[in-house]
Amino acid sequence: MHIAVIGTGYVGLVSGAGLADFGLTVTCVDKDKEKIEILKKGIVPFYEPGLEDLVKKNLKAGRLRFTHKLEEAVKNSLVIFICVGTPSNFDGSADLSQIKEVALSLAEIIDDYKVIVTKSTVPIGTNRWIKSLIDTYKKVQVEVDVISNPEFLREGSAVEDFMHPDRVIIGGESSHALAIIKDIYRPLYLAETPFIITNLETAELIKYASNAFLALKISFINEIANFCEKVGADVTVVAKGIGLDPRIGSKFLNPGPGFGGSCLPKDVKALIHQGKTLGSPFKILEAVWEVNEKQKLKAIEKLEALLGELNNKTIGILGLSFKPNTSDVRESPSLVIVSVLLEKGAKVKVYDPVAMEEFKKNIGNLEITYSSNPLECATSVDALLILTEWNEFRFLDLTQIKKVMKKPIIIDMRNIYEPSTVKNLGFVYSGVGRL
Ligand SMILES: NC(=O)c1ccc[n+]([C@@H]2O[C@H](COP(=O)([O-])OP(=O)(O)OC[C@H]3O[C@@H](n4cnc5c(N)ncnc54)[C@H](O)[C@@H]3O)[C@@H](O)[C@H]2O)c1
Repeated sequence: MHIAVIGTGYVGLVSGAGLADFGLTVTCVDKDKEKIEILKKGIVPFYEPGLEDLVKKNLKAGRLRFTHKLEEAVKNSLVIFICVGTPSNFDGSADLSQIKEVALSLAEIIDDYKVIVTKSTVPIGTNRWIKSLIDTYKKVQVEVDVISNPEFLREGSAVEDFMHPDRVIIGGESSHALAIIKDIYRPLYLAETPFIITNLETAELIKYASNAFLALKISFINEIANFCEKVGADVTVVAKGIGLDPRIGSKFLNPGPGFGGSCLPKDVKALIHQGKTLGSPFKILEAVWEVNEKQKLKAIEKLEALLGELNNKTIGILGLSFKPNTSDVRESPSLVIVSVLLEKGAKVKVYDPVAMEEFKKNIGNLEITYSSNPLECATSVDALLILTEWNEFRFLDLTQIKKVMKKPIIIDMRNIYEPSTVKNLGFVYSGVGRL
């Protein structure tokens, strides 16, 4: 079976390479010509563990191809996966311009029955809108079915998540199209992955409700952490204690500098917007959002509590990506924290193992010192701030680090160190939600 995948970002490239690895013939298309030229050489233009090997393997086997011409990808394909971006509009709603552009282009070129599968995260009702756009503008009167198949992969473990998902959600109305998609995912079905076959709206909402719930868990534990600091409790033990209740679960109960990334913030905003528009407001998500915005400033509050005015102080930052194992800095708390530090007149040094290029692109041309390792980043700083829990930060030579710092202050917004260990080395140490 031939498949086209439109958009070769995190979702499109992982899905394209993953489907090719299932044995299907996949053509990935992206309008970014430069990206396609790089991909044709088997190089992945962002950091995602295991992805480059998967791309190279399937390119070599001839099951995976790349093109920047939509027609070339769509012509022989029965199934077309839409994996383009759905970023936020200014008012928080999802910007569907990339989806619309794809639907209108498909209407121009489709000349045979096609199943259009939306993997992008899209507001409830979007799949029906895609079908109506194609049906209205199609040049050749052929049948088109739409399927909602939201993606749940996590950056940093995207390949593993695609190959071994917790569940596969498929929403649609045409039994013929549903059967085709189920067949595509047969290798997962045989591996006993749970499948949920439902209608379009339910499938679309499952994706938003999942991300909203994860965001809720993070904001909840961040508020508990802040309360812990007031009363002398230890949030890591509280999280363990509540997480042992299977109704709560232990995952996603790690306090930190606030959630970021390309999905949680935009999806929470989009669901809040949809709720408001439809007269069914999500009060709880509005609070989740507010708590998260405040949490991003927690690191600044902690620095000011220990250093006073930040003007002319030098702060070293370890970790810029919104989580480890990715170069993605979209909506990363580091962007807000660095901007506020600079506004307050502080000097900022940063280090991240893979995300510094992306960070530069996102934050723009500001006066920031980019260091080539943690020790260089710690040199002559008044405080060191840990923002991402990269493994390489868990075993820093703290004795050496203390020697090069101006003041021995560590603010660990990921709780990667045991407070007593760091304090015994002579540091002033502040984690999140524990003394
Ligand atoms: N990144 C994640 O972890 C993740 C996880 C689950 C779901 N999602 C959802 O999947 C969607 C894609 O996310 P992403 O992170 O992969 O986005 P991305 O921005 O990394 O990639 C999107 C790609 O689509 C391409 N594109 C845009 N318009 C196009 C067009 N008309 N024709 C061809 N290519 C086009 C862009 O050039 C880009 O390469 C979003 O809706 C997102 O919410 C993302």
